[in-house]
Amino acid sequence: MRLLVTGGAGFIGSNFVHQVIQRTDHTVVVLDKLTYAGNRGSLDGLPEDRLTLTEGDICDGGLVNALVAGCDAVVHFAAESHNDNSITNPEPFITTNLMGTFRILEAVRRYGKRLHHISTDEVYGDLELDSPLRFTPTTPYNPSSPYSSSKAGSDMLVRAWVRTYGVKATISNCSNNYGPRQHVEKFIPRQITNILDGARPRLYGTGANTRDWIHVDDHNAAVLAILDHGKNGQTYLIGADGELSNRQVVELILEEMGHPPTAYDLVADRPGHDLRYAIDASKLREDLGWRPVYRDFRAGLRATIDWYRTNEAWWRPAKAAVEEKYRAAGQ
Ligand code: NAD
Ligand code: DAU
Repeated sequence: MRLLVTGGAGFIGSNFVHQVIQRTDHTVVVLDKLTYAGNRGSLDGLPEDRLTLTEGDICDGGLVNALVAGCDAVVHFAAESHNDNSITNPEPFITTNLMGTFRILEAVRRYGKRLHHISTDEVYGDLELDSPLRFTPTTPYNPSSPYSSSKAGSDMLVRAWVRTYGVKATISNCSNNYGPRQHVEKFIPRQITNILDGARPRLYGTGANTRDWIHVDDHNAAVLAILDHGKNGQTYLIGADGELSNRQVVELILEEMGHPPTAYDLVADRPGHDLRYAIDASKLREDLGWRPVYRDFRAGLRATIDWYRTNEAWWRPAKAAVEEKYRAAGQ
């Protein structure tokens, strides 16, 4: 197959491209705008005869049509992805996540191509900290932030194009990813690189907010399984039973990096901060036989810390601007 991968220079998209090259015979065309979050270096070392990178915008209908016409299937990762940015400036989230997805849908409709749409568990809103509930494919949508509401809207567009126009599409909603090549604005890389820089980790609010962590390799193994065996029109939730509070994660990072587990600061909370996410991935496990490989979070975290230690050239250019932005927000 010839796959069009949007957002393939970002954290999860580039990991997907690496997996496709390693595990399949497919060729890949990446369409990426190379925003602050995109990094050509994340695709370094991949064979030129299997991978082409086109720098461009998913909102550019002509470009999207031309690329979709030449591929067999589209895997759509491209998005503005960071909640904090969506709170300070929501407009690019509306443009890219809604208009961009609309352009992709119109192109796959026109050329009759298969689409897999990458989305987030945040579309379901949040859960109480002490509740036994987890998100399932029938949980009602209830997004909290400009980011999550734009992703919820993009999911709704995909569902409508499937029902109304018979577009062949699947959707996956995944929990929080960690692993190599994640932008330093995100929680885990920010704390690791702070410690490498001699600064203290910064926890929003009380640090009690809980996320359901999954290694990026496991997320993309599930995406490949859905691409191969997923049923048209279905939604699959991806998660690896990795619930931890933010405080627990920071304590683990500090311990692994040889610091006292209390050596962090509490800072201003995120407005509208979702309390807890938790995924019930039974459908993915039962229907497609997917299982996470990374079951030991501490071991996955240790490998991630090592990656940031040895790949400073990859993250250093972004670090100062990110910290400046957080400083202005009191975080
Ligand atoms: P990221 O911010 O690291 O990467 C996004 C990529 O999209 C970048 O390469 C960027 O240049 C590109 N991009 C942005 N706007 C574009 C546009 N208009 N046209 C073309 N390219 C554009 O994001 P990520 O963390 O890798 O997330 C990828 C996808 O996975 C997103 O759809 C996100 O909603 C979803 N997701 C992320 C997580 C997570 O934990 N990070 C979890 C679940 C789902
Ligand atoms: O759940 C999936 C989502 O996970 C994805 O859809 C998003 O694209 C991705 O960014 C992520 O969203 P979060 O908002 O959960 O991730 P973030 O890394 O920004 O923050 C994780 C948690 O850590 C959250 O509760 C906020 C908190 N936090 C974050 C930063 C940057 C801190 O306490 N301190 C920080 O410095």
